[in-house]
Amino acid sequence: MGTLRTLDGSLTRTADSGPTFLMCPPKHYDVNYVINPWMAGNVHGSSRQQATEQWEQLHSALRQIAQVHLVEPQPGSPDMVFTANAGLVRNGIVALSSFHHQERQGEEPHFRRWFSESGFAVRDIPRVTPFEGEGDALFEADGSRLWAGYGPRTRQDSHRQLTELWGVEVVSLRLVDPRFYHLDTCFCPLSNGDVMVYLPAFDIESQMKIEARYSKKHRICVSEGDALRFACNAVNVGRTILLNQISDDLCAELELRGFQIVQVELTEFLKAGGAAKCLVLRLSELNVTHAQRAAIAQSPPLSSAYN
Ligand code: ARG
Repeated sequence: MGTLRTLDGSLTRTADSGPTFLMCPPKHYDVNYVINPWMAGNVHGSSRQQATEQWEQLHSALRQIAQVHLVEPQPGSPDMVFTANAGLVRNGIVALSSFHHQERQGEEPHFRRWFSESGFAVRDIPRVTPFEGEGDALFEADGSRLWAGYGPRTRQDSHRQLTELWGVEVVSLRLVDPRFYHLDTCFCPLSNGDVMVYLPAFDIESQMKIEARYSKKHRICVSEGDALRFACNAVNVGRTILLNQISDDLCAELELRGFQIVQVELTEFLKAGGAAKCLVLRLSELNVTHAQRAAIAQSPPLSSAYN
C-alpha cells in the first residue's frame, strides 16, 4: 500500500496495483484566451455546468477501471483541468512541464506542489526548452520507447532531457498542423501494440518513423473527421478505450481489434482544444512510486547545463 494526500489534507492509502491517473475538477474551467486554433471564437463560449457534467461522466467512467486522484483546481488557471500537460510520469519521477505559453505557466507551481506532496521526485525542464508533459510525450504500451512531439509547444531540445531522465529511446515527431498542436491530439499508442494516428498532422520524416515502427496492420489511420472529433485523444486502460464521440466506422474497427469503446461527450472541452486524454494524466502505480522513492531521491538530477 502507498499513501496519498487527499484534497482535505488527510492521508489516504492506495491499492497496490492498477493504473492510476490524475484529474482536476473543472471548477474554474473556461476559455479565457486563445493559444490554439480551437479556442478562437470560443472565448467565454463554454458552459461551466455542461463542462462539469461531461467531466463527471469521464471521471466516473475512468474510476470504474482505474484509480483516479484529484488535484485542487486553482482560480486564474482555467486550463488546469487538462492535467495531461502537467508533466510526464514514469517510475515515480515526474518531468515537470515548462509551458510554452505564459497563460499556462501559472499552473506549474500548483502541479509541482501536488507531485512533491504526493511523493514523486520532481525534475524540472527549463523554461528555454518548453515541454508540455504527456500532452507531447507518450510511452509505447510496453514502455520500450517514448514518442515525443515537438513544434507548436514542446521544443525538440527538451527531448534529450527525457532520454537522460529515463534512459529510454525517444523518437521525436514533428507536428505540422496547428489544429493538432499536441502529440496526444493525433497519436495514441494502444495496449495491444497498435497505434491510432492521424498521419497528416506530422511531417513526412515523422510519418516515416511511425510507419517504420507500426506496420500497416498495426496502424489505425483515422479520417480527418474523426481526428477533428479528437478520436486519437483517447485514454486506453487494458482493453477499454475512453474517448469523445467518434464515427461508427472507427468504433467498429476498434471493436474488431478487441477493444471496448466508451464514448463520452466532451464538446465543452473541445472548445479549448482538448478531450478525454488531455483531461487525464497517467501516474503509473503509486506503490511503484513509493517503493522506488528512496532510490530515486539518490539519483543525480538532470545535467547541470539544464538546471
Ligand atoms: N487550452 C489548452 C491548451 O491550449 C488545451 C490543452 C489540451 N491538452 C492536451 N494534452 N492536448 O494548452
